[in-house]
Amino acid sequence: ETTPRVPVIWMHGLECTCCSESFIRSAHPLVKDVVLSMISLDYDDTLMAAAGHQAEAILQEAREKYKGKYILAVEGNPPLNEGGMFCIDGGRPFVQKLKMMAADAMAVIAWGACASWGCVQAAKPNPTQAVPIDKVIFDKPIIKVPGCPPIAEVMTGVITFINTFGKMPSLDRQGRPLMFYSQRIHDKCYRRPHFDAGQFVEEWDDEFAKKGFCLYKMGCKGPTTYNACSTVRWNDGVSFPIQSGHGCIGCSEPDFWDQGPFYSR
Ligand code: SF4
Ligand code: SF4
Ligand code: F3S
Repeated sequence: ETTPRVPVIWMHGLECTCCSESFIRSAHPLVKDVVLSMISLDYDDTLMAAAGHQAEAILQEAREKYKGKYILAVEGNPPLNEGGMFCIDGGRPFVQKLKMMAADAMAVIAWGACASWGCVQAAKPNPTQAVPIDKVIFDKPIIKVPGCPPIAEVMTGVITFINTFGKMPSLDRQGRPLMFYSQRIHDKCYRRPHFDAGQFVEEWDDEFAKKGFCLYKMGCKGPTTYNACSTVRWNDGVSFPIQSGHGCIGCSEPDFWDQGPFYSR
């Protein structure tokens, strides 16, 4: 009761805000418990009541008050082209704000594919030169929590770990928490027995699709995608893309946006 809660400053660069949409749907733990009891969310562009000059003042106050002690959570990424003018935040390029806040952070969390890898705004030919945050932050530990978006319980799970143990989770060589990203979707997919038996969907809505066969021939990226969807699942454990009848598009892997499968019609 007397231990101060971990200060978190949550910033948004080029992104779609669905990482936040995912986060606020966490059921285990409930996001209200995370925000109101576990951490001190001192700044968040989308969840805070303040705006404009008041928000900027809060940001500077939190930066000075918690220097070296706060976690910087970053959703989205900085575009570098033309001096960063494709994402202006508080009157200056987002990349400046990101570097400034990272300099005084204890650690940085990269939420989602945008912050971790670049995502759709970095798709070829990447006109804004959007880059993952580790291309502009070099001197802080960065925990990458990829996915487009990441699973809600994975996001709150990372925060719960830091809050409970007072240290960063173990990461793989790409900077992802091993506890959620050490296995492929394919390793725990409930359709895996069909893969092993050579039973595949050949066309959308064919008789094999109706039987729930493996989606590998329809472009499923589960065999090369590291994420927790086939174990944790989505919407409080209800389902995940493959259970809904579509293969995994590898949304937690680098460059998924340029590698498909996407459709032209
Ligand atoms: Fe949106 Fe995906 Fe970026 Fe998250 S990673 S902000 S869901 S585009
Ligand atoms: Fe693997 Fe995808 Fe088939 Fe599941 S549907 S067994 S992840 S290839
Ligand atoms: Fe993304 Fe594949 Fe999971 S598309 S949501 S990593 S099943």
